Amino acid sequence: MKPVKVGLLGLGTVGTGVVRIVEGHQEDLQSQVGSPIVIEKVLVQNKSKSRNISISSDKLTEDPWEIIRHPDIDVIVEVMGGIALTKEYILEALERGKHVVTANKDLMALHGPEILGKAQEHRCDVLYEASVAGGIPIIRTLVEGFSSDRITKIMGIVNGTTNFILTKMSQEGASYADVLKEAQELGYAESDPTSDVEGLDAARKMTILATIGFRANVALEDVSVQGISSVSKEDILYAKRLGYEVKLLGIAERQDDLISISVQPTMVKQSHPIASVNGVFNAVYVYGEAVGETMFYGAGAGELPTATSIVSDLVAVVKNLKLGVNGMQGSLAYKEKKLKTDEQ
Ligand code: NDP
Ligand code: HSE
Repeated sequence: MKPVKVGLLGLGTVGTGVVRIVEGHQEDLQSQVGSPIVIEKVLVQNKSKSRNISISSDKLTEDPWEIIRHPDIDVIVEVMGGIALTKEYILEALERGKHVVTANKDLMALHGPEILGKAQEHRCDVLYEASVAGGIPIIRTLVEGFSSDRITKIMGIVNGTTNFILTKMSQEGASYADVLKEAQELGYAESDPTSDVEGLDAARKMTILATIGFRANVALEDVSVQGISSVSKEDILYAKRLGYEVKLLGIAERQDDLISISVQPTMVKQSHPIASVNGVFNAVYVYGEAVGETMFYGAGAGELPTATSIVSDLVAVVKNLKLGVNGMQGSLAYKEKKLKTDEQ
């Protein structure tokens, strides 16, 4: 049983979770894929930084090419974030025939079609379940679970940081700035939390969900975005008095070849289930012509929930390797079909 060797780019919140799950669940993972999964090398910015996981120092490197060009590494797991460098590393890894698992919604929302096109060219997998809604397997559900249906609407809370902030402001009267700091300390927020609080992170996730759900090429510019930075404690208090909670909702709707996608703070009736989605939790409603309404709920950010999605993708890559069917899924590469927004 030849081990499958993984190069991990990043050992922050999510990378640490990936190491914990690969090591902690090794026996169970092996029983599913028939080979040991080994984290061979780990890219960090600073090797001497103290870490809350013990990892042998000879596995750590500050040189990305030692991993990308490593002849024995089969799969790259990208959890370092950012766009320009990660795109460069991932494209080169694919050219070298390596499969990729990533949590990077910024990259996939902006360059998904190019990356997936390159993956297909080289018969490689690029899987990105962790990029949307943390531990909820929503991408796999849209690609596989609803392949028989025509999805008309996707709606939900897809950013954990802002939901954590809005919940604490509503339930504890906490201040926006204090709760944002707490979300950063818990590892929920992006390295630049502006993208969380201004709604861009949610917009990127809605772009990915709409692209997959509507099987069309949806662009980030198609999303109208408003974040929560201007929502005050008073707004939340008045909404509560009227029987509403304020939630940052992403809504993507499709009618024939017309789409509308928005992310905005929304007053949700307290009787609606989405009003009770609290803290770092996310919830995604998917409406299909045949299936009707469905709802998916779970932790939307954080070390272990996000790493669960990454390691499940890793298992899928290894199963595909055994079957020789990598690069076949092609989701998010619907270049031929562009939907229109109202403004077009
Ligand atoms: P962190 O900031 O916690 O970790 C980033 C890691 O990448 C660190 O180990 C850092 O090294 C390393 N790194 C960053 N830039 C470079 C670089 N240029 N060269 C080498 N190493 C680098 O990020 P997260 O773990 O929170 O997030 C990682 C990715 O996962 C992001 O794309 C994020 O959007 C996504 N994501 C995060 C979730 C979460 O809950 N945090 C949930 C879902 C997705 P060092 O440790 O030395 O500083
Ligand atoms: N910052 C993101 C969030 C991480 O809070 O939802 C998960 O994608």
